[in-house]
Amino acid sequence: MVNLGVLVSGSGSNLQAIIDNIEAGRLDARIRIIISNVPDVFALERAKKHSIPSLVISHKGYKRREDFDKKIVEALQAHEVGLVVLAGYMRVVTAVLLRAFPMRVMNIHPALLPSFAGTHVWQAEVDYGVKFAGCTVHFVDEGTDTGPIIIQAAVPVYDDDTAETLNARILKQEHKIFSQAIQLYAEGRLEIQGRRVLAKGFPKVPDAFMINPPIEIFDR
Ligand code: GAR
Repeated sequence: MVNLGVLVSGSGSNLQAIIDNIEAGRLDARIRIIISNVPDVFALERAKKHSIPSLVISHKGYKRREDFDKKIVEALQAHEVGLVVLAGYMRVVTAVLLRAFPMRVMNIHPALLPSFAGTHVWQAEVDYGVKFAGCTVHFVDEGTDTGPIIIQAAVPVYDDDTAETLNARILKQEHKIFSQAIQLYAEGRLEIQGRRVLAKGFPKVPDAFMINPPIEIFDR
């Protein structure tokens, strides 16, 4: 059983997926505290609905990011958090948080890192013309979206996709892989070797592949 502290800034659909998986007994974790840096976001409603303790710690009023993170760390430690989960948390975290929770901060990013780091990724993917997009759960390091990758899911990008349709397709997979990553952590199956995170006990699928658009010539 791992004690989670979940940091949010918005709607919290990833938070909801984690709550649902815990309640369904699929995820061996307990959410000790949900912290939002933005007041009145929907994620806080979700916390209330499921009777999970929550806090707003606004970043406004802190001149230095480090001082803000110190407050966050104090709250996480007060709730005996073992793993910090960034679920749509739109703040860059500093070494203050990372030192308090070394390799114990996980983030979900809506792209196949290291491609399309940063924000507004869906439009950038459509504009670039990639044929696959996806999402990534990674441990957080001091860079932006650069930490060791735990799990990724790929989805096709279609010719008529917009940022909105692609976002929706990716989000569905986010809701699965975040809980999977947390469960692997809870089971002690993640082994970090430098940049690589090895997940123990998975069979290989040697000829697995995806092609988009699909190849038709061999079906003729
Ligand atoms: C998700 O798509 C998540 O990947 C993204 O924000 C969205 C939050 O949705 N996170 C980032 O871009 C982090 N840099 P949610 O609040 O409904 O979970």
